[in-house]
Amino acid sequence: MYTRLRLLIFSVFLLFTATGFSQAYQEFTPGKIWKDNNGIHINAHGGGILEYQGTYYWFGEHKIQGKRGNTAQVGVHCYASKDLYNWKDEGIALSVSEDLKSDIAKGCILERPKVVYNAQTKKFVMWFHLELLGKGYEAARAGVAVADQPTGPFTFIKSYRPNAGLMPFYVAGTPQAEQVNCVNPTSKSDMFFCRDLPGGQMARDMTVFVDDDGKAYHIFSSEENFTLHLAELSPDYLNHTGKFVRIYIGQQTEAPAIFKKEGMYYMIGSGCTGWDPNPARWFRARSVFGPWEYMGNPCQGKGAELTYGGQSTYVLPAPGKKGAFIFMADKWEPKNPIDGRYLWLPIKFENGKLKIEWTDRWDLNTFK
Ligand code: GAL
Repeated sequence: MYTRLRLLIFSVFLLFTATGFSQAYQEFTPGKIWKDNNGIHINAHGGGILEYQGTYYWFGEHKIQGKRGNTAQVGVHCYASKDLYNWKDEGIALSVSEDLKSDIAKGCILERPKVVYNAQTKKFVMWFHLELLGKGYEAARAGVAVADQPTGPFTFIKSYRPNAGLMPFYVAGTPQAEQVNCVNPTSKSDMFFCRDLPGGQMARDMTVFVDDDGKAYHIFSSEENFTLHLAELSPDYLNHTGKFVRIYIGQQTEAPAIFKKEGMYYMIGSGCTGWDPNPARWFRARSVFGPWEYMGNPCQGKGAELTYGGQSTYVLPAPGKKGAFIFMADKWEPKNPIDGRYLWLPIKFENGKLKIEWTDRWDLNTFK
């Protein structure tokens, strides 16, 4: 009798697994395990999202267990979704190379991949922060890859430090004191800028933003992470044009995420404390080239001073409601990186100011 019962329970279990039976998500639960269609915690850290023809594609760093987990042993993972709650594993969009001489050799550091679609070339373009194998965080390069399909496979093109030999662009009215002078650099940050002028500027934590007019911008932590650069990309999105501005000079901003609402540009970033959380910071600007105004911490309530344990990675325009946005952050697990969690929270606007609050669970009706 007992054996028969066991057999019955086992068969029911098998049936459920075989038919892929699993509860569909109908809400976001920030910080909790978030399973894909195969029942596996989503592996797309430091990620970003591309919307293309009614489907959302989430790209992020594929991490593994244990100490080596933050190095790129696999590549950039892609997931697809129609509703933002339930994600289908689309596999590895960009694989690291078995060739140890490749810039993206297995074991390198490949972080914060962001994919955009170029309507002119009809290509999907992926930018990422790249550190060469065995060199720690010293290379500080931007890498770029391209694909014909959103899910890849992406082909690696090149990696480099942007804007070699070029001075920043300044909007009219920028005080002389804020303009870097490489004959006589006056701050630490200016010194790093001038040091890197011949070979190109360092490019670490990053994002890519496509404006309404189709122009794209690469925003990255530069100058030993002291200053953000916002640099224009060429019409095919595969190169830097050489026009760039420096933002919040010397203040160590990382993890930039940009969005635009009613003609105003907004950026959320973090401070610079490695895998440990710190207070988020936000900025706004009327022109993408600035001036970018520092606005303080957008987070409020319990946990706000440490971004609820997370660090920004992307801001996604919410479906169905123009002008509504989702803040995406990573809660890193440096001892076991594959266990890193995702914190998605709604962004509120109050008298022109951003406000993010913690909530254990929420859904897209929040924006209605
Ligand atoms: C963080 C950064 C991550 C990663 C990490 C390494 O500050 O945002 O992307 O580079 O440092 O310590």
